[in-house]
Amino acid sequence: MLMQSALVALGGATLAAAVSSLEVQGSQFVNSKTGDSFQIVGMAYQIGGSAGYDPSHGKDPLSNGDICKRDAALMQTLGVNTIRVYNLDPNLNHDECASIFNAAGMYMIIDVNSPLAGESLNSGAPWESYYAGYLNRTFAIVEAFKSYPNTLGFFSGNEVIDSVKTGATVPPYVRAVTRDLKNYIKNHADRAIPVGYSAADVRDVLEDSWNYFQCAIDGDETDMSRADMFALNSYSWCGESTFEESGYNQLVALFQGTSVPVFYSEFGCNTPSPRVFTEIESIYGSQMTGVFSGGVVYEYAQEKNDYGLAECNDDGTVNLLADYATLQNQYKKVDFSSVQSVKASTAKVTIPECKASLIKEDGFNNNFTLPAVPPGAQDIIDNGVSPKPVGKIIDISDYTVTHVVKDASGNTLSGLAVKPLADDVSNTPGAAGSGTSSGSGSGSDESGSAAPTLAPQGPLSTAAMIIPAMVGLFFTAGFSLI
Ligand SMILES: *[C@@H]1O[C@H](CO)[C@@H](O)[C@H](O)[C@H]1NC(C)=O
Ligand SMILES: *[C@@H]1O[C@H](CO)[C@@H](O)[C@H](O)[C@H]1NC(C)=O
Repeated sequence: MLMQSALVALGGATLAAAVSSLEVQGSQFVNSKTGDSFQIVGMAYQIGGSAGYDPSHGKDPLSNGDICKRDAALMQTLGVNTIRVYNLDPNLNHDECASIFNAAGMYMIIDVNSPLAGESLNSGAPWESYYAGYLNRTFAIVEAFKSYPNTLGFFSGNEVIDSVKTGATVPPYVRAVTRDLKNYIKNHADRAIPVGYSAADVRDVLEDSWNYFQCAIDGDETDMSRADMFALNSYSWCGESTFEESGYNQLVALFQGTSVPVFYSEFGCNTPSPRVFTEIESIYGSQMTGVFSGGVVYEYAQEKNDYGLAECNDDGTVNLLADYATLQNQYKKVDFSSVQSVKASTAKVTIPECKASLIKEDGFNNNFTLPAVPPGAQDIIDNGVSPKPVGKIIDISDYTVTHVVKDASGNTLSGLAVKPLADDVSNTPGAAGSGTSSGSGSGSDESGSAAPTLAPQGPLSTAAMIIPAMVGLFFTAGFSLI
C-alpha cells in the first residue's frame, strides 16, 4: 500500500496539468468542463515575423523551449490566455513549448499556412495552389498539434480575401480547405478542433466573407465545409477612441446573431504611439462580450513595423517596452472573474443557408459549388499523413526563466518563472500573481506605465484601416518586410 501510494504520488507529480479543451457551441467557445463561455485574451506570437519560420534551420516560433518559457512567463504575468502563431513547421518538435503554454494556462490558435511557396493559397490564382502537396502540409500541422489539449483551433487562411477582386475567386477555395481540414480532423483527431478563417477588416468584403464561410450548403448544418469560427484583423480603434468612433459599434451590429464565434484575430492600432489600449475595456465590456469572443493583441515581439510589446534580442534577453505595462494595466481594469464565468447560452443559433442572395457585394463570389478534393488528397484525408508528425504534452522539470528580462525602465525582473496552473484552469490577468515584480521595487510598474494624454482622434483615415491589415498579408504573401 505504502509503495503504491508513493507511486501514485510520484505519478501525480510528473503528470502535467492541462487546460480543458474548448468546444464551439453556437456562437460561443465553451469550456468543456465548466460549461462557461470563454473570452480570448490573446497575443500574436511570432518572433522575427515571417523570418521566425525558417525550416531550413530547424526553427519556428514554438521550437525553442527556453524562449517559450521566457515568453510564457511574461505573457502569463500580463494575463494572456491564448497565443496565435502564424507560421509553423509540422516536422519540428513543439512538445516543450506546447507543454509550457499549457501549464501556463494558455491555448494556441494555429495558422496552417506559411509564406513559403506551396504552403498557402495564392490569392491571385487559388486554383494553382490547391493541390494534394499543399493540403498535406496543412494536415501535417493538424497532426503536429491535434494532441495538445490547449490547441484551440486552426486558421485555414489569413486575409486571403482583401478586396472584391480576390473575393471573386478565393472564397470557394478557402471553404474547400476548411472542408478538407475538418474531414481530416474528424478522421484522425479525438476531438472536434475548430477550424476557421482570419479576415482582413476590409468593410467591402467583411460581411460577405463571414456569410460565405458561416452558411450551410443546402441548409445542412453538419456540412463539413462550414467554418467553426470567424475572426478579423481589426485596427480601427486608434488612440483614445470610443465604441462608436472606432466603428466597433458597426462590427457588433454586423455580427449580432452570428452562428459561429467571432473574435479579433489581431487588434492594436499603433498610431498614435505609444498605445493606450483603451479598446480593452470595450472588448471585454458588456457592449461586446455578447457578440464577440475577445481578441488577440498584435503583437508580442517588436519588429520593424513597431507593434511589439517586447524587444526580443538575439542573445535571448528581453527589454519590455512601455506598451507592455500599458496593456497590463488595461487588463487589470477588467473584472475577468465575472467576464469568464458566464454560463454559455444554450439558445439555438440560426445558421443561414448558403444562397446567392446572402452575398451583398456585386462581384463577390456567390457560387457555393466548391472545388473537388484534388487528385491524391482524399487518400491522405482517409489514411493520414505519412510519416505522421506526433505531438504530446511532456513534463517540464524547471519553469525558471534563465534569460535576463528588463522592464521599460531598465530594471531587471527577478524570480521570473512560469507558474504552472491547476488542472482545468486557464490564465487570467492577475492569476500568476506579482511574481515578476521588478528587482528595484514594485513602484516601477505604475510609474513606467503612465501614458501621455492624447488628443482625441479624428475620423478614422483609410490609411489606418488598410495599412495594418496589409501586415497580416505579408505573412501570407511571403514578403519579408516584417
Ligand atoms: C506530407 O507531410 C509529411 C509531414 O510533413 C511529409 O513527411 C511528407 O513528405 C508529405 N507528403 C507529401 C506527399 O507531400
Ligand atoms: C459554380 O461553380 C461551379 C464550379 O466551378 C461551376 O461549374 C458552375 O458553373 C458555377 N455556377 C454558376 C452559376 O456560375
